[in-house]
Amino acid sequence: MASPAEVLRSTIRGEGHSFTPKPQAPSARDLYAKVSHAVPAIEWPVYAAEIDAIMTLKRTRNAVVLAHNYQTPEIFHCVSDIVGDSLALAREAMTVDADVIVLAGVHFMAETAKLLNPSKTVLIPDLGAGCSLADSITPADVRRLRAAYPGVPVVTYVNTSAAVKAESDICCTSGNAKAVVESLGVDRVIMLPDEFLARNIAAQTDVKIISWSGHCEVHELFTAQEVRDLREDYPGVVVLAHPECAPEVVAEADFSGSTAAMQAYVARERPAKLVLLTECSMSDNVAVLHPDLDFVRPCNLCPHMKKITLRNIRRSLETMQHAVEIDPSVADRARLAVERMLAVK
Ligand code: 13P
Ligand code: SF4
Repeated sequence: MASPAEVLRSTIRGEGHSFTPKPQAPSARDLYAKVSHAVPAIEWPVYAAEIDAIMTLKRTRNAVVLAHNYQTPEIFHCVSDIVGDSLALAREAMTVDADVIVLAGVHFMAETAKLLNPSKTVLIPDLGAGCSLADSITPADVRRLRAAYPGVPVVTYVNTSAAVKAESDICCTSGNAKAVVESLGVDRVIMLPDEFLARNIAAQTDVKIISWSGHCEVHELFTAQEVRDLREDYPGVVVLAHPECAPEVVAEADFSGSTAAMQAYVARERPAKLVLLTECSMSDNVAVLHPDLDFVRPCNLCPHMKKITLRNIRRSLETMQHAVEIDPSVADRARLAVERMLAVK
């Protein structure tokens, strides 16, 4: 009989948002045509050498690269095996059939992959790839909130440390936050640490949401006035905003959703002129798939996501550093919160 973990795995398999499992990647020489819109020709020879080295190392190490939508095109389109939003990466991390997972993203994503694959080696190429949301809250903060609101369940955004997840009842991502909140069948939840995500979800549900004061340092920079200026400067532009943006920004946008939901919107609606209010590489990556659409490009860089490069992915596979380890007493409780999220339809 299948174990509970196997049942959970088969339940969630294939329900990720926008990941694109890729066949064995071709050599660097064949890849340039795909990313030529986004990668200057002068940079390509350096990238090509790194890409070929990474392809070889992936084979010798039996490794896969999971890349978030905010990774640069030469990583996202050229060396990654699985790409997507935080939810897709978490889901797909469970189906990986390799010994080594390199997480081209930020540290909490690598921790999530490790939680779901405790027996595999999970590598993050730069330990400094953090997240302002993950830094905004500690396990002690969660315990204090629980004491202040006895009996109210804690929904924790995946953009947190494993230690914070361990204090939580269930995790969520921007792709499933509303469904997770409503799955609990209660009239009030604590949702942390992103204040803006919590307020944006509160606007879509009858469940009362108690929030924390964390912000994404990238998305908090967008303003409602910026959206109004964009509409004036680019008549007809369609505005998509990530739900980590302030509610006033989301209110001015035509659509709000996770990075995968934005990508799906673009594929479905094909707006002739559009702007993605999110991290800069997102537009580059979506534009590679839709070269005929006109992307207006005000964006903000995530300094943490940008710490990952082809060079440190290669180094990571050469040296097998930095392997993510999670304290077992934390890991078991954190895993439960992530698995509960993955079981929500
Ligand atoms: P997504 O889950 O929408 O990919 O967002 C992750 C993230 O870090 C956004 O800033
Ligand atoms: Fe964290 Fe914001 Fe960077 Fe995403 S974009 S990793 S939420 S700092």
